[in-house]
Amino acid sequence: MDFKKILFLLITISAALSNRVSHTHQKRQWNVYNKNIHKRIHSDDINTTTTVTSTTANTPIENKVKITVYYETLCPASVRFLTHQLKPVVEKLSSYLDVQLVPYGHARTYKSGDRYLFRCQHGPAECYGNKLHACAIDALQNNTQAVLFNACLMQYSYRSYRVDYISVLNWCGYKLNAPINGIWECVNSERGSIVLKNFGALTHALSPRYVPYLVFDGSLDNQARANLMSAVCRRLHPAPPSCYYYI
Ligand SMILES: *[C@@H]1O[C@H](CO)[C@@H](O)[C@H](O)[C@H]1NC(C)=O
Ligand SMILES: *[C@@H]1O[C@H](CO)[C@@H](O)[C@H](O)[C@H]1NC(C)=O
Repeated sequence: MDFKKILFLLITISAALSNRVSHTHQKRQWNVYNKNIHKRIHSDDINTTTTVTSTTANTPIENKVKITVYYETLCPASVRFLTHQLKPVVEKLSSYLDVQLVPYGHARTYKSGDRYLFRCQHGPAECYGNKLHACAIDALQNNTQAVLFNACLMQYSYRSYRVDYISVLNWCGYKLNAPINGIWECVNSERGSIVLKNFGALTHALSPRYVPYLVFDGSLDNQARANLMSAVCRRLHPAPPSCYYYI
């Protein structure tokens, strides 16, 4: 079979169907189509009927970036990253992102009887902050909301002497329209320790040398710490309009 011909035919059909789409957008979509087609050609079950159907029908293309952020609550670089990079990027591109927060950093977990105890790089206050962030992730069950909520906690608690966490929780809950009862219950019960211990296990499995530590779709990206928006936009094909100034 002549696959070049099939490819040409497909591109012609796509072109005819996507007249409304802007030129750059179209070019990017073609790249994705072409990649898909190549994948199919190299796979065993070649079936032209299915190829034509899946490339010209309105099948949504999976266009999401998965980011895992390992951090600790009192580390200045982590605070800066969450409040100045991650939060604004999530606000602009939440539907293209799947962000998994792992608030633990350079901490250690100890077992005492059937309870878990922690020792953190910046002392007990950081352990408490990490647990609060862990509980927010656990209780909110929404990665986007958890990023915005934890960035809010950092913004209003970092560097303040004797933080009144209940006020900060109330304020962030009000500001982001997020339920805080579950978070407060978690942080004041053994649940909080268990959730934090689990984030610890994820962190120890990776042993990041520094924080914040970013894993993009499974691999480390050091440069993304400096410009997250452009790192995300470079991975989106087609890139949404909010990316146009960043690629
Ligand atoms: C290709 O797939 C279509 C739809 O699934 C099926 O009807 C057709 O028989 C298949 N053709 C071949 C050659 O396998
Ligand atoms: C998650 O939270 C965001 C931000 O509050 C909200 O826009 C979105 O609809 C929520 N998603 C789900 C599945 O509830």
